[in-house]
Amino acid sequence: MTQTMSIDESRIDRDWWKEAVVYQIYPRSFNDSDGDGVGDIPGITERVDYLDDLGVDVVWLCPVYDSPNHDNGYDIRDYRAIMDEFGDMADWERLRDALHDRDMKIIMDLVVNHTSNEHEWFQRSRREEGEYADYYHWVEGSPDEPPNNWESLFGGPAWSYDEERGAWYLHVFNENQPDLNWRNPDVRTAVTDVVTWWLDRGIDGFRMDAISHLSKPEGYPDGDPDEHGPLGSEHYTLGPRLGEYLDELGAVIPDEAMTAGEMGGASAADAREYIERGDCLDMVFHFDHLGVDQGGDWTGDDWGEWSLPEFKELMTRNQREVARETWEALFLGNHDHPRIVSRFGDEAYRRESAKLVGTFLLTMRGTPYLYQGQEIGMTNTEFESLEEVDDAMTVGIVEDLLADGAVDSFDEVRTAVNYRSRDHARTPMQWAAADRADFTDGDPWLALNDNYTDVNVEDAVADTESVWNHYRRLIELRREDPALVYGDYELLAPEDEQIYAYTRHLDGERRLVVCNWSAEPATFESDGVAASDAEVLIGNYDSAPSDPVDAQFRPFEAAVYEY
Ligand code: GLC
Repeated sequence: MTQTMSIDESRIDRDWWKEAVVYQIYPRSFNDSDGDGVGDIPGITERVDYLDDLGVDVVWLCPVYDSPNHDNGYDIRDYRAIMDEFGDMADWERLRDALHDRDMKIIMDLVVNHTSNEHEWFQRSRREEGEYADYYHWVEGSPDEPPNNWESLFGGPAWSYDEERGAWYLHVFNENQPDLNWRNPDVRTAVTDVVTWWLDRGIDGFRMDAISHLSKPEGYPDGDPDEHGPLGSEHYTLGPRLGEYLDELGAVIPDEAMTAGEMGGASAADAREYIERGDCLDMVFHFDHLGVDQGGDWTGDDWGEWSLPEFKELMTRNQREVARETWEALFLGNHDHPRIVSRFGDEAYRRESAKLVGTFLLTMRGTPYLYQGQEIGMTNTEFESLEEVDDAMTVGIVEDLLADGAVDSFDEVRTAVNYRSRDHARTPMQWAAADRADFTDGDPWLALNDNYTDVNVEDAVADTESVWNHYRRLIELRREDPALVYGDYELLAPEDEQIYAYTRHLDGERRLVVCNWSAEPATFESDGVAASDAEVLIGNYDSAPSDPVDAQFRPFEAAVYEY
């Protein structure tokens, strides 16, 4: 490959975070240093060299703040303190320094749509103490009748009655996660203070949780039963003042910081609109492409059916409407979604399909996000009963269905739970074939996936042909090749049901990516691309077809060419 290729700087808008690869850590499940069965910050610090060897540039640390853990840290009791189970602020500072010493950056999870109901703000608010009285969405009325028909994203009504205050409060998520009232300027100031406090501690940016839900309309109008999603979500998603609130947040975040907003319910066009609007969001996690395989409801058994042409259409829309015009967060999984290999790959071709997904994510336009375990091809686990599930979303939704009489037993939701549970992603990281996968010396807080004897870091690092080593090489390739970061994306053969192929062009530099996204051999119809004279940059089988045009690709074979 043309090393150090020259880029016409006037054509691209360079930023460090566009050229970065992000690694997401769910601390509870990453590495336990003190034997209590729960991952912790010193455990992460022990593994910083591991991350450096893999070659990632940024760590996104899921919440480590003080929390009663109804939603594993996404219910924050104190924004300025570290959860006891995870360590203390000195541990956090050591982690930050260990990352910075190795030229890696750290971004923190900013969870400010809601707090924990144990947060001091909520405690004071329910007692109607001074300025705090109006910090949350309170509505008075009969304890028998919630203010409107809104449903929570985690099952059941979005309102709970607080006996102490004698009023209803809003929670888009769990009842332990009351929504902050962003209409109140004091709340916005309190939040920007938190943002500044963390920036002052030397962090490099934020992943912003549930940012699409910050604004709720005056009067809390009823939800329309004909709308898609939980009742009322059309009102509490992308609400009327969201842009204004984001502008205020953006005003206290320096330009060089990286910001990625999670926007459930946003289309590609919405994502682009909020990125383009100002300087708050560099990129957005939006989820249309992850809807491709969703079953209708939790009692259905059609989960996991998806078609490659539809997936290509969704990804291509994201590339054209968001990535090309602004920037894109590239991801196929995170702590809220099943394992990528089990979902978009094929466990029968675990190694090949895990490498294919890596090839895909690391050769699209945008910033790739890897979720812990993805780099070794970790897979889903199996749940036999609701008792085995920790995930507040799954438990909330299933308990609500049981309470309503919509289902009588776990069996009726078994397929959906095993397909959708967020716990698949939260089983502990598999470090070695040793006892308890070397994740902990104690009892892991969530059961390990049994396959840790075959799928683990120690073996993967030692094996030059492993998924891990493939990821490492892909990250290196991307780092050396601006065409893979900034190049224009063009989809080839959109209707092909097995092959996902595309080109990336930048200033005369041309790359071609061919993925056989199926368990059967497939021929790459070139779709007019003159790639006969191609050079293989990387492939996931021992040798990729040297002339890709009309060549056969093996099951889940993926290769990147310069042509
Ligand atoms: C986001 C987080 C998820 C959490 C929810 C509520 O969607 O990614 O894990 O449960 O927000 O904070």
